[in-house]
Parts: sequence; structure tokens; C-alpha cells
Amino acid sequence: METKRYTVNQIEQAAAALNAGELVSFPTETVYGLGADATNPAAVKKVYAAKGRPSDNPLIVHVASVETVEHYAVTSNPAFGQLVKAFWPGSLTIILPLKHGAFDAVVTGGLKTAAFRMPDNQVTLSLIKAAGVPIVGPSANTSGKPSPTLADHVLHDLTGKIAGVIDDGPTGVGLESTVIDLSVATPVILRPGVVTQEAIERVIGPIMTNKHKVGAAETPKAPGMKYKHYAPNAQVYIVANPDDFDAAIDWASQQAVPFGVMAVDTILEKQAKVRFKDQFSLGESVVTASQHLFEGLRYFDLNPEVKLILVQGFAKEGVGLAYMNRLEKSAGQKYFSKQQAD
Ligand code: TXA
Ligand code: MG
Repeated sequence: METKRYTVNQIEQAAAALNAGELVSFPTETVYGLGADATNPAAVKKVYAAKGRPSDNPLIVHVASVETVEHYAVTSNPAFGQLVKAFWPGSLTIILPLKHGAFDAVVTGGLKTAAFRMPDNQVTLSLIKAAGVPIVGPSANTSGKPSPTLADHVLHDLTGKIAGVIDDGPTGVGLESTVIDLSVATPVILRPGVVTQEAIERVIGPIMTNKHKVGAAETPKAPGMKYKHYAPNAQVYIVANPDDFDAAIDWASQQAVPFGVMAVDTILEKQAKVRFKDQFSLGESVVTASQHLFEGLRYFDLNPEVKLILVQGFAKEGVGLAYMNRLEKSAGQKYFSKQQAD
């Protein structure tokens, strides 16, 4: 299949492909999504095949209006309206109980709930309106790989498997949306994102903390959490304390394999570039680091010689919680420690 790179002026063409049951990758403010008509089970099945994604992992339904959510889901929980008012369009995905027979089981993974999101991207909101149907969209990466924040990432993973990608440049936030489950008695965050627990609690009051839910040993409520995620080809080690970068680089130098470093500029500037194979700047803060984390991991995949990547950690608070959630998965929980270097 020829895969097109649509411009943002070719929304009608992209919508026609969706209506014909084909897959189109769409931009959002978080990451690029892999779109299919949510009302067409055969099209939705192709999403799993293109990504190589296990079919028990349900998809987010992207909408351009709250009325569409009301059509499919039970929205009587007052928290729904409050969250929509505060955060939509935006990086918050809301899980709601479905009305009977709302979607085919291929969309929901057989669950009686579905995840809804109105992305903060004008091109994609226009696309959904032009297609006239809600659009399912997991991140548009091969399953297990870092999520795509550029159209080039999508084309790298999915060329030949999808009709096209609408290129709207870099995504912005860089990490996937916060997922909150409103289908349970006490709302709970299933996946942290830039819409933080604190921000949500300011709107709807106390929610359940998810800290005990994301441990590796438990069966996670968000089915996607149990799979290998965000893994580049190289081994990733997290450097939690910026002061440990010298020791970490000494240690990596002794491993006799080319390695990469991902850190903020102030850390990179202190290191002599000759000591390692390659470096990728995470900018200046946890916000820019979140925007560029997946891009950096993919950058090192382009260099097959790099076998190890040292990546800067941040405090697990605010946006840092979402950043560390993704980074720990890409690292398989591996942290550099000074003892290791001794
Ligand atoms: O920012 C985002 O959320 C991006 C963009 C494209 O919108 N999408 C995205 O989709 O990250 P995906 O499929 O990679 O992640 C969706 C997550 C998965 O962990 C999935 O298991 C969970 O949401 N999920 C979806 N429906 C669910 C449901 N009914 N109950 C529990 N978890 C659900
Ligand atoms: Mg994903």
C-alpha cells in the first residue's frame, strides 16, 4: 500500500480514506494517533494488525463534540461535565460506562466501558467532523516502540500499512494523555500525563491514588500497562541524580560499547562530547524533556551501533510523574547506581 504524507490542507482526502475503512494517522497535542472509523469493526481490526498490538488492549475513541460521547456513553456522573469543562479539548482521556451495544468488542477489548478524548488539535478536530464518525486512535507506533511525536516517526513504523499520515509538525506535549477512569465509584488515574492528579482534584475533589496500581506485579486496570512499552533497541539506564552523570558516563565508557546520553543542556555542556558516541538534548526542563523523550529514544534507534543510553531522570511530581512513568518503562526499570560503577 502506498502511504501518503497528507498536508493539513488535505483533510477531506484523509477523511475519505477513513470513511473507506482505511487507516490514517492524525496529529494531536500529545502524540500522533493511528486512526480508524470507530463504527467500522473491520477498519478497527486493521489498527491492531498495523501496530502488532494485542487485541485485549482497548482503544481511545477520539471525538470532536461532547454530544458524540453522550450518544455512546453514560455521562450522568457530574465529574464528567466538570472535567470536560476544565480540560477538553486537551490531554485527558475519560473512561465511561457504555450504553448497550455502543461499539463492537474490537473497539473496547470486550469491556463495558470505553475511553474518550477530545484532542487539542484543530486539524484533527476538523478531520473527525469531516469524517462524521468518532475515530479510534492508539499511538501510531509499532507496539512496544516509543510513541510518535513527528510524522516521520509514523512513516518509519507504518509505511506500507496505512493510507497516510497528516503531517502537522511536532506534537507539543510529547507524552500520551492522562487516563482517568470514571466508571468506578472513586475515580482513579490509570495512566499519568500532563493533566496531573493535583489539577484534576482541584476540579472534582479527591480521587484514588494510582500509586499501588502501577506496580509490575499487579494486573493493571488499563490493559495496555502490562505490555512492553517505549523500548528503543539500546538498553536504557536512568540517571536519577544529575550529579551522578560523571560517574554514569565513566561507567558506560568502560562497557566497551558505543553509548548515548540524553539530558538537559546544562548537563550536556559539562561533558566532553568525545567521551561518548552521541548525545540528544532534552532542552532545559522537565517540560521540554517530556516533549522530546520519545524523539530522543527514536533518534538513537537510527544508530544501530548505540547499545546503551543514559537518560536523565526527574522528580516524580507534576509532569515529572508522567515523564518517569514512560522512562521507567523504556528502561525496564533500570537505574544507574554508583555502586554499579564501583
Ligand atoms: O494521548 C493519547 O492518549 C494518544 C493520542 C493518540 O490520543 N493515544 C494513546 O492511545 O496513547 P493508546 O492506545 O496508546 O493508549 C490508550 C490507553 C491504553 O493503556 C489502554 O489500555 C487504555 O488507554 N484504555 C483504553 N480503553 C480503556 C478502558 N475501557 N478501560 C481501561 N483502560 C483503557
Ligand atoms: Mg500507545
